[in-house]
Amino acid sequence: MQRKSKKHGDSDMTFRNIRKVPTILRNPAGKNDTEEGVTMSRIMMKTPLVEMDGDEMTRIIWKMIKDDLLLPYIDLKTEYYDLGLVKRDETDDRITIEAAEATKKYGVAVKCATITPNAARVREYNLKAMYKSPNGTIRAALDGTVFRAPILVKGIDPYVRTWKKPIIMARHAYGDVYKNVEYRVEGPGTAELVFTDTDGKETRQVIHQFKGPGVLQGLHNLDASIEGFARSCFAYALDQKMDLWFSTKDTISKIYDGNFKEIFEKIYENEYKEKFEAAGLEFFYTLIDDAVARVMRSEGGFLWALKNYDGDVMSDMMATSFGSLAMMTSVLVSPTGIYEYEAAHGTVQRHYYKHLKGETTSTNSVATIFAWTGALRKRGELDGISELMDFADKLEEATLETIESGKMTGDLALITNIENVEKLDTEGFILAIRETLDKKLGV
Ligand SMILES: NC(=O)c1ccc[n+]([C@@H]2O[C@H](COP(=O)([O-])OP(=O)(O)OC[C@H]3O[C@@H](n4cnc5c(N)ncnc54)[C@H](O)[C@@H]3O)[C@@H](O)[C@H]2O)c1
Repeated sequence: MQRKSKKHGDSDMTFRNIRKVPTILRNPAGKNDTEEGVTMSRIMMKTPLVEMDGDEMTRIIWKMIKDDLLLPYIDLKTEYYDLGLVKRDETDDRITIEAAEATKKYGVAVKCATITPNAARVREYNLKAMYKSPNGTIRAALDGTVFRAPILVKGIDPYVRTWKKPIIMARHAYGDVYKNVEYRVEGPGTAELVFTDTDGKETRQVIHQFKGPGVLQGLHNLDASIEGFARSCFAYALDQKMDLWFSTKDTISKIYDGNFKEIFEKIYENEYKEKFEAAGLEFFYTLIDDAVARVMRSEGGFLWALKNYDGDVMSDMMATSFGSLAMMTSVLVSPTGIYEYEAAHGTVQRHYYKHLKGETTSTNSVATIFAWTGALRKRGELDGISELMDFADKLEEATLETIESGKMTGDLALITNIENVEKLDTEGFILAIRETLDKKLGV
């Protein structure tokens, strides 16, 4: 059957994957010409992607990527949710919940960066409330783990010379110091850890006999949350065909960190060992300090799972070491295998205000492009559409080859060792990728 245009939420399954349609040709000056008679194959989709639009400069990039790099090649089917702050305010943030529910239904989503409102944003957008972070809401709904992966490109070398392949970071996003209870001890006294069960039975342990002032902190975590984290990590390592490393400090924290270690080992033995062995992959547990030393000496190419605080610290080190926040993707994976792809950076507010003033911007769209390719590839894999997976590969290759040829945005021009770089503006860079892509596709 022939489809006239993209329909959001259309789940018709009775069509071929490829059909002939007029292609939209975009000339280097940025004008659109629809050339009737010039045809190319657009890739058909079966199940819609959940598309979550966002804010500021990334919202501008989002549209450019769709118009220039996706719609000419794909009969893009998405179920569209506008998570821009204006719409979130209009719907009292219900739109975010609806987007999360749709993600559960369809299994794959792609998300644009969004503003997490603070007091300044409440004033700026005249908001009814200081809404929660959309990422936090979606993560809670999917019980997911966030995996961050650097995008490696020749000419932008990681600060750590040995790193040749990406290191994917997985951070447990529940509990520990982020849900702590703290206490300032003003003078001598006894601090105790007391647990009262539902029958009223108390268990007490002395933490410390204070002889003078000091501080106290209470932490907790939940087996269910750690189990979900472990399953997401094992599933994503299999998905990426990468070894999984996990590290804690269980020699010092025998019960708390020991519990993390035991849960990972139990789930591995019972649910994933055979799959890992069949895929030739390894699950490797070591102490956090040993892991840090090994990571620094490694070539990369593995997934590193970390507790909440360790992941917080290490993922920023990793992002910096690999060059730029704009070259880092992020995917939220639920224990049941639901995927939500996004860029790891924010809405690039400073560039947006320049854009509003009519000034030229040079915003890096690579991570947002890779969010789309990640989602399209996964959709292709789940629906058995190899053309969609090939297209995602080609678009990623075209993006990297464009940079390697010396055409890039300002942030990369500052850190590359490629000579005679051509610094492009936001849309110029996307159009340069389009040119490389067309050559690869023989269009
Ligand atoms: N996942 C998300 O949706 C997400 C994540 C972080 C921040 N935010 C939101 O983004 C807004 C801006 O936050 P921020 O300024 O702290 O973070 P940001 O990531 O937008 O910017 C941080 C710095 O990195 C630079 N940068 C980031 N991405 C870039 C790109 N693609 N190209 C060129 N330079 C880039 C910026 O110019 C800035 O100097 C805030 O409202 C925040 O709530 C959203």
